[in-house]
Amino acid sequence: MASRLVVLISGSGSNMLALADACERGEVPGAIMCVVADRPCDGLRAAEERGLNTLLLEPAGFADRAAWSEALRDAVAEHRPDLVVSAGFMRILAPVFVDAFMGRLINLHPALLPAFPGAHAVQDALDAGVEVTGSTVHFIDHGVDTGPVIMQEAVSVEPGDTVASLHERIKTVEHRLLPAACRALLSNHLS
Ligand code: GRF
Repeated sequence: MASRLVVLISGSGSNMLALADACERGEVPGAIMCVVADRPCDGLRAAEERGLNTLLLEPAGFADRAAWSEALRDAVAEHRPDLVVSAGFMRILAPVFVDAFMGRLINLHPALLPAFPGAHAVQDALDAGVEVTGSTVHFIDHGVDTGPVIMQEAVSVEPGDTVASLHERIKTVEHRLLPAACRALLSNHLS
């Protein structure tokens, strides 16, 4: 039976689209049941245009962060997901959300964790002058980018790289890495 995926996004959604393509091609044994965004964004529009089920859940519509986190948890749980994928979701998930999906909740991060956690990973790698950075798919736990690593791939930093050029090259890798990690997880090829 096909697995059920929910994808959380905040931005361009290119990784969500790569995952949707991989699902459609049968490379990932599942289907995206819903794309959830915390703000209006290009990724949400692209998901709609593609005919995917979408949900916009903005924190501003709730009394506080706790109420929003509970609403997010309930909205995602409704889809009975086998895997919840944070792909460019620019908010830290509250314990009430993480606890609900622990072990089937993963994140895509644009650096070789544990190096360069946080929201400015590409900039931080450039500032540090490293020659190699990359991308990581990892389980989400209660820390910021601290959970167990599932898959990683290295990307070279080239002379003259800017945040934009380096991030673009990292994303090219991520468009393969995220589906590969989802495939491995959903096919029980990980222990
Ligand atoms: C990716 O680089 C991911 O690693 C980071 O945010 C970016 C999302 O890009 N967390 P996109 O919205 O999928 O294009």
